[in-house]
Amino acid sequence: MSSACAPGKAILFGEHSVVYGRPAIAVPVSQVRACATVEGTPPGSGLVIDATDLHVCCPLRTASKAEHPAYALATTVQHTLQRLGIDIAPDLTLRISSTIPIACGLGSGAAVATATVRALAQHLGHTLSTLEVSQLVYQTEVLHHGTPSGIDNTVIAFEQPIYFVKDQPIQLLAVKRAFWLLIADTGVASPTRIAVADVRRAWQKQAAAFEALFDKIAAIADQAAAAISNGNTAALGPLMNENHELLVRLGVSSPELERLVRAAREAGAQGAKLSGGGRGGNMIAQVSPPETQRVATALKKAGASSVIASCVEATAGPGSGWQAAPA
Ligand code: PMV
Repeated sequence: MSSACAPGKAILFGEHSVVYGRPAIAVPVSQVRACATVEGTPPGSGLVIDATDLHVCCPLRTASKAEHPAYALATTVQHTLQRLGIDIAPDLTLRISSTIPIACGLGSGAAVATATVRALAQHLGHTLSTLEVSQLVYQTEVLHHGTPSGIDNTVIAFEQPIYFVKDQPIQLLAVKRAFWLLIADTGVASPTRIAVADVRRAWQKQAAAFEALFDKIAAIADQAAAAISNGNTAALGPLMNENHELLVRLGVSSPELERLVRAAREAGAQGAKLSGGGRGGNMIAQVSPPETQRVATALKKAGASSVIASCVEATAGPGSGWQAAPA
């Protein structure tokens, strides 16, 4: 039996503008995880997908139809087998379980795919580099998101804070001093592909205005990256607030997100913003440890369906700034 797990993720700065080549910062969220287990089965059983959360237990062939709820998972399996040079699906059961809420910006699809690729490769006796895993997962992200930047698969496969620019070498972001986040779910499921498509339509109509907003967000992401790597965590909250106002102008906030962002700030968070695709899904707030409980309570009172506390740990080693990720 082989198994692998992968964390959730949160985008701290730069969502949406990252699709247009600007930088973004994302961190893994290890409190929630997706796990995949692969077990051999008797000859002739074929490959069976058992994903309790999706209420799916069926042969790979059945899940490979576009309308099937496990289609993305089946496609991940097929891409992985293809990459490993295996033409006929082996006899095995792939079991998936996950504590990452679906469609709310915590990277559930990419985490399930990452765990699946790793567990399958391991079971079939292959070693894939982190970059190869990330590239395979990107292919599944295309199914989920349409035109993904690649930030989700990268931060989840590398399981480290990243400074991400689409189509550029991956850069791991050194964290000089730990800081704390609360991640609150609006409870409104919001497919990222719809928000991304809406932003694209608006950008097509008003290219100059949207390019200017993307540039402002890029400048914030760069300042935040410098602050994180220098240990200037006090700068992060105000930068989150600024980034949020620009996301509002892109049209990706919602009344539920606004309510949570306001509640967090009023309860003493250092800053707050929506995180991910927006329109629903999650928001994040930077908090100092003594405020955590008060802000979490305020978020729940303002309608959050769940609140996760997560520490972005300082990274080991003397380095600061950006570091190329190993290939
Ligand atoms: O997967 P989500 O909802 O956290 O959002 C992804 C971030 C976007 O920038 C909106 C899209 C992308 O592909 O980068």
